[in-house]
Amino acid sequence: MKIILNGACGRMGQVFAKLFREKCPDGTMIPVDAKGEVGEIYTALADYEGPADCIVDFSHHSSTDALTDYAIARRLPLVVATTGQTPEEAAKLAAAAKFVPVLQASNFSLGIVVLISLARQAARAFPEADIEIVEAHHNRKQDVPSGTALSLAKAVQGERPGSRLLIGRHENGKREPAEIGIHSLRMGNVVGVHEIHICTDTQTLTLRHEAHDRALFAEGALTAAKWITGMGPGLYDMQRVLDAILH
Ligand SMILES: NC(=O)c1ccc[n+]([C@@H]2O[C@H](COP(=O)([O-])OP(=O)(O)OC[C@H]3O[C@@H](n4cnc5c(N)ncnc54)[C@H](O)[C@@H]3O)[C@@H](O)[C@H]2O)c1
Repeated sequence: MKIILNGACGRMGQVFAKLFREKCPDGTMIPVDAKGEVGEIYTALADYEGPADCIVDFSHHSSTDALTDYAIARRLPLVVATTGQTPEEAAKLAAAAKFVPVLQASNFSLGIVVLISLARQAARAFPEADIEIVEAHHNRKQDVPSGTALSLAKAVQGERPGSRLLIGRHENGKREPAEIGIHSLRMGNVVGVHEIHICTDTQTLTLRHEAHDRALFAEGALTAAKWITGMGPGLYDMQRVLDAILH
């Protein structure tokens, strides 16, 4: 397998490259990074014209134009792990998906995909339950709540018409049944914990995912890269990859 890795010098790019060497010893990785400072690295996608099966992107959302133009011109599948796209950049990815397969996810952890799927199921099974989400991350994280906690909450909300997300609980007063609470802890070096509590008057079901190492995102992206090479044009998410694993 030949993978073009955009953002190869970054933290995640280096983790992905290490995993790829371990898991695909016969594969070839073509590293691209605007910095281009480690070994033989292409500083722009357009500089590489050789063969490839797919592009994995762990760079910066500002590269979206170059990324989509290159993928379309070369008819290459695209696995987009980079986050933070503007609405215009997100539209560019959606437009590219008319020509090539594009898989985008803000969290490539397969465990989180399973967690979201189970949370939906639990919300359906216990329509009267109070649902509260708790996430914990290291003390350097800027965004609150985590994007993954929001994805989890929105998935549950999809099963609960009329419900509303409550980020943090500040005021006195009892809990409203329509609330889905989201609570954030910031401490130490925690890589990422997401919990969802589904609580009725008689029982509590707690679903919990804990990330130990950023390598889990690279594992998911590599699984996605293998999956997408067999797909036609379209915009895909990690749920599709999970469906393929389960069937
Ligand atoms: N989807 C997921 O599961 C997941 C997990 C972790 C990180 N991420 C995302 O992946 C991205 C990278 O994260 P990181 O921690 O490795 O960041 P980083 O800053 O360490 O690395 C980004 C790399 O991209 C390079 N780069 C920037 N602009 C570029 C361009 N136009 N063309 C080519 N290379 C360019 C930089 O030189 C840098 O080496 C971020 O958007 C982050 O949010 C996603």
